[in-house]
Amino acid sequence: MLFTLTSESGTRVCKRKGVLSAVWAGRGSFTKCSILGRWFTRRFTALRQKVPFAMRALLFGCALIAVATIAPAVVAQKVQLSVDVSKASVKIDRNIFGQFAEHLGHGVYEGIWVGPDSTIPNTRGIRNDIVAALRALKVPNVRWPGGCFADEYHWRTGIGSQRVVTLNPNWGGVIEPNTFGTHEFMDFLDQIGAEAYISVNVGSGTPREAAEWLEYLTAAQPTTLAKERAANGHQAAYRVSYLGIGNESWGCGGNMTPDYYLSQLKIYSRFVRNFNPSQQDKQQMLKIAVGPGGSETEWGYWTEAVMRAYQNRQWSWDINGLSMHSYTVGHWPPSFASVGFGETEYSQILKFTLEMEDLVSKHSAIMDKYDPQKKVALVVDEWGAWYAPLPGTSPGFLVQQNSLRDAILAALNLNIFAHHADRVRMANIAQMINVLQAMILTDKEKMVLTPTYYVFKMYVPFQEATFVPVAFDAGTYIHGEISLPRIDALAAKDTAGKLWLAFTNLDPNQSIEVEASLAGIIARSAAGETLTGPKVDSVNTFDAAKTVVPKPISAKVEGRKLDLTLEPKSVTVISVEQ
Ligand code: AHR
Repeated sequence: MLFTLTSESGTRVCKRKGVLSAVWAGRGSFTKCSILGRWFTRRFTALRQKVPFAMRALLFGCALIAVATIAPAVVAQKVQLSVDVSKASVKIDRNIFGQFAEHLGHGVYEGIWVGPDSTIPNTRGIRNDIVAALRALKVPNVRWPGGCFADEYHWRTGIGSQRVVTLNPNWGGVIEPNTFGTHEFMDFLDQIGAEAYISVNVGSGTPREAAEWLEYLTAAQPTTLAKERAANGHQAAYRVSYLGIGNESWGCGGNMTPDYYLSQLKIYSRFVRNFNPSQQDKQQMLKIAVGPGGSETEWGYWTEAVMRAYQNRQWSWDINGLSMHSYTVGHWPPSFASVGFGETEYSQILKFTLEMEDLVSKHSAIMDKYDPQKKVALVVDEWGAWYAPLPGTSPGFLVQQNSLRDAILAALNLNIFAHHADRVRMANIAQMINVLQAMILTDKEKMVLTPTYYVFKMYVPFQEATFVPVAFDAGTYIHGEISLPRIDALAAKDTAGKLWLAFTNLDPNQSIEVEASLAGIIARSAAGETLTGPKVDSVNTFDAAKTVVPKPISAKVEGRKLDLTLEPKSVTVISVEQ
């Protein structure tokens, strides 16, 4: 600490960890901080020339105690913000709140499916507690059966009374009982009220196999496959709203070059048809091609290749979406702990996650070149935090805890998607239950809702709302070498005309006073919920499920002005009543 004080830069004194930064953190601007730092440096250098070391240390310790005693309580930062409701523009597609359920670890088995004979309360084998929790999220769509699993999945193993038992080589090499198959998935969707996003097997399947699966699912006429579906318990044709043509075909999905993938894409796009009569006109199934997996130049080539082919396409094939996968991982293999970390790892992970903005912008710009009318959606169908597996768990099961940091991470990503609502029209967090950044964790009959779950719940009003621009100076939160925006914000007008505001205070140490000026609306009151917890790594557990849960919050409103205090490390959503 003494060396820190004698450094040339007074500013560094305040930025560094240790006693001094603890004293001065939260005490206003960096200008103030650096002046104080320089003052300390000058005084201390003079002192050092005259007084022996031990005495200097003693004097300095006393000075610190004095400063700490007279220092005022941590003062909230102020952020001014303006929202003009008359500038409402693009609709935020509810599909950006999509989920992903892969046959991986306990994501499906135990997470969703316990079987009809289980003592855990269920409806036709599907857990009732999970269904109730997911219904509250108004899940728009669920992507299934993978992931990497999809390119080794053969749908016939999962229908009928005699299920074929296979293996799951991607994820731990465990037995795949196939007791959760097509009918169980569609039943699950029906119970939670979501649409189907089915990924067909391009890597090890055939166009015929995928075409027959879709006929089995969607044909209303009495074809042999439709009759087989009826015999297996479902007379009516199912709806399949989204079709993923392969998964990471550049990697686990077959290690294909862009050209090879394109040759497959065109065939699948042509022959894998949806026959459901109700989906022939307006509600047509949207076809989603495999897209990039990062921001590096080679991913740009992939996006270029698919979009160039799209621009030059013939009548016989088409796509409506381009998938993009991006995890907040830091470095591969995933090594960040999901629990038991401090502010350094908190700020590092948030820094990594904000790279999503650059990634979306880059690939959107390429798509704009070939599709200026934005007909093809950018579908971020795998995103979220990927940490080191929890000690004692099977590494292939991708089990991690979910902390307040993940709630903040989720809000930041959802805000990025909403800001790009014109292009990002679908996203699927990975994954829904017990895997990676999950909404819900289960252990036999027990279930706990994660901080990420609560963000999705608080953001429900943004589904199908219209994006409203917000102008603000985010300020800066600095920790060590990491510098982040202190605040993030999102505004939208819902279908009933009500204004919704979401704020994320990234700073784990300081609260923020938001002073918002509202245009295009006369506000009467504003209230909502805020989500925070004691520490950046606070989690909900089976024994302490309410550590990170939303609590009510209200704002002071006077006509066109709104004042609200955001707690440190928090996500807040409020609605403004007119
Ligand atoms: O979500 C886990 C895996 O991550 C998926 O199976 C795969 O698509 C991605 O690499």
